[in-house]
Amino acid sequence: MKKIIVLILVVALLATFGVACQKDTTSDAKLVGVSMPTKSLQRWNQDGANMKTQLEAKGYVVDLQYADNSEELQVTQLENMITKGVDVLVVASINGSALSGVLADAAKAGIKVIAYDRLIMDTPNVDYYATFDNYLVGVLQGTFIVDKLGLKTGAKGPFSMEVFGGSPDDNNAYLFNAGAMDTLKPYIDSGVIVINSGQTDMAQIAIQDWAPAGAQDRMDNLLTAFYADKNIDIVLSPNDSLAQGIVASLKSAGYGSAAKPYPVLTGQDCDKTNVKLMIAGEQSMSVFKDTRTLAAQVVDMVDAILAGTTVPVNDTESYNNNVKVVPSFLCEPVFADVNNYKTLLIDSGYYTEADLK
Ligand code: GAL
Repeated sequence: MKKIIVLILVVALLATFGVACQKDTTSDAKLVGVSMPTKSLQRWNQDGANMKTQLEAKGYVVDLQYADNSEELQVTQLENMITKGVDVLVVASINGSALSGVLADAAKAGIKVIAYDRLIMDTPNVDYYATFDNYLVGVLQGTFIVDKLGLKTGAKGPFSMEVFGGSPDDNNAYLFNAGAMDTLKPYIDSGVIVINSGQTDMAQIAIQDWAPAGAQDRMDNLLTAFYADKNIDIVLSPNDSLAQGIVASLKSAGYGSAAKPYPVLTGQDCDKTNVKLMIAGEQSMSVFKDTRTLAAQVVDMVDAILAGTTVPVNDTESYNNNVKVVPSFLCEPVFADVNNYKTLLIDSGYYTEADLK
């Protein structure tokens, strides 16, 4: 009997020792580099935080860096991650075409690369892409305008509209624009919607770095040049940061009264500031892209890459980066406005009531 007890104790001790040893051995843990574009827009802070939490929960060590919207800094940060020996890189690019050199180095080091939200262009060295269906984002914005103004049910307007584009170095910007403009084209062609400035090319309408101040300046100029004697009815903004600048411009031009009601104004991201603008009736809609979902999808990709199993993708046709079609996972964006934001954002735990006060 004594012998058995001693044996059990020894086995228990060994087991404890073994477990303890395993826990202490962090050198086995895989290192994931996460490169985010900027802290200046709310969503990227959430993307980074979600990625870090979810990867760490799976036992990965995470090197999370923000590049302050500087493509040079992003390259330097990626070089450092490669030198540190990361096992996988997750990159939300600033300039999608500026990473060919550094990603060639990653490939040489055998590091797989996942493009996060924004496609990395002009390089063979991007392995997977996880995003929201970007064309659909634009369709949601265009459809909102059609519904809000009753265009399908025969409203003839004419309604005046101006169009804004996202950052010209971000592939997403072109897709948002295409989805919205394809949806609105029949009404523009028939004259129900009139773009008084005539500016629709991305070269004319794009706002560098998605900067609110850039959007505010352009809106100021449009209002002065084309709307001195009439109201603007619609502003197609591809995202929330631009919508912030547009609202600031409209406000200083006196919009928000019975004689000058706010135009129908679109957005994307459901940033806190913009949900507040929707509640105040200054922005009409946004598009909710749940960054928790995107992060979870990317974590699944990382897991599969490191386990050598099949990486989950659901689109192998849409995202050509000028070198190859990048296997992608598209999450679904959802339309949001003042009527459904509580269910979408608060009930789901994305924000608290206090966040939106
Ligand atoms: C895009 C992204 C949008 C928006 C924008 C500005 O690439 O898809 O959701 O956040 O950048 O950061």
